[in-house]
Amino acid sequence: MSIYTNLIRPLLFTLPPERAQKLAEVAFQAKPLWKTLRPFFQVDDERLHTDVGGIHLPNPIGLAAGYDKDCRMIESLSNLGFGYIVAGTVVAEPRQGNPRPRIARNPSEHSLVNSLGFPSHGLKAAADRLKRNTSRGIPLLASISGLSIEDFSHCYQTLQPLASGVELNISSPNTEGIRMFQEPPQLEELLSALKPSKEKPLFLKLPPYFDEAQRSRILELVDMCLKYGVDGVTAANTRPVEDDRLAVGRGGLSGKPLYPHMLRIVREIRRHAGDKFIINACGGISSGEDALSALQAGANTVQLFTGFIYEGPGLMKRINRHILNFIEREGILSLGAIPRESGD
Ligand SMILES: Cc1cc2nc3c(=O)[nH]c(=O)nc-3n(C[C@H](O)[C@H](O)[C@H](O)COP(=O)(O)O)c2cc1C
Repeated sequence: MSIYTNLIRPLLFTLPPERAQKLAEVAFQAKPLWKTLRPFFQVDDERLHTDVGGIHLPNPIGLAAGYDKDCRMIESLSNLGFGYIVAGTVVAEPRQGNPRPRIARNPSEHSLVNSLGFPSHGLKAAADRLKRNTSRGIPLLASISGLSIEDFSHCYQTLQPLASGVELNISSPNTEGIRMFQEPPQLEELLSALKPSKEKPLFLKLPPYFDEAQRSRILELVDMCLKYGVDGVTAANTRPVEDDRLAVGRGGLSGKPLYPHMLRIVREIRRHAGDKFIINACGGISSGEDALSALQAGANTVQLFTGFIYEGPGLMKRINRHILNFIEREGILSLGAIPRESGD
């Protein structure tokens, strides 16, 4: 229990979700405040350091894509104990996104459903903000998407130089068109178009899968990543669900219900892709235990979004402390030496 879960969350949850998000955005404009609060959220310990594809992270906890779609809060968010931030998803042209309401909460199961559909100020606005913001302190991945290879390429060329790495989002369930890149031939075209420009670590954000047919298609996408030198995947995005509360009637489920599926997917991708491939586990992580189990299942880092909404800014410190306690208890020297589950 914390001030956040006892006081701030109940107040925020009296507001419609998008209004609460706007309020958080306003709070995060107060950059000096969050800089002052930094020591309360930080766990600085070399044993938490890790390296993903050459990016040095102070700890393995990432803020997942979608929280800071327009790169407006990076400086403040980087004081909250994250090891890295995924900003975006940025798309080439400004977009309104889907009609409202387009986010709903399920507090009893600590989940959200969203049908945002990439509301975005567009590439130019994001790039201008990243150029101005040089003092973020922790690595930043730029999440990009598009409806065509040209859109992706334009975002890639523009944002790769301004970030530590790039995450390709082909997996939002809310945007007509981008899911075509979940077909192996289309993904191959996309990856071969981006490959000549690749200078920094590149990750592919996958959709979750729930049956054998989906599983073999997603593992084909992983094979494509291996073939084209993509450094790793983020597994996974939200789960498509029907929901009458949303204007468009369907959206992506995030939060706790995704957790067991995420663990299974991480294990299977690790087994399939071998030791060197990077896996960022994403889906329902909201405690130190959750994060540690994901690392033991084979993840190199974890990313979270909905857990941050439900547990607040103290969550990253609790997760980092939990991992550190485990490292100490087991007499392990560093994060990379955390034993993976046997057989994986
Ligand atoms: C409101 C909302 C907006 C999101 N927007 C994006 C996005 O723009 N790009 C993306 O790759 N994922 C987006 N996601 C998915 C999250 O990054 C994450 O993959 C998913 O929520 C599962 O993690 P979680 O259970 O920790 O939230 C969004 C999720 C939510 C709840």
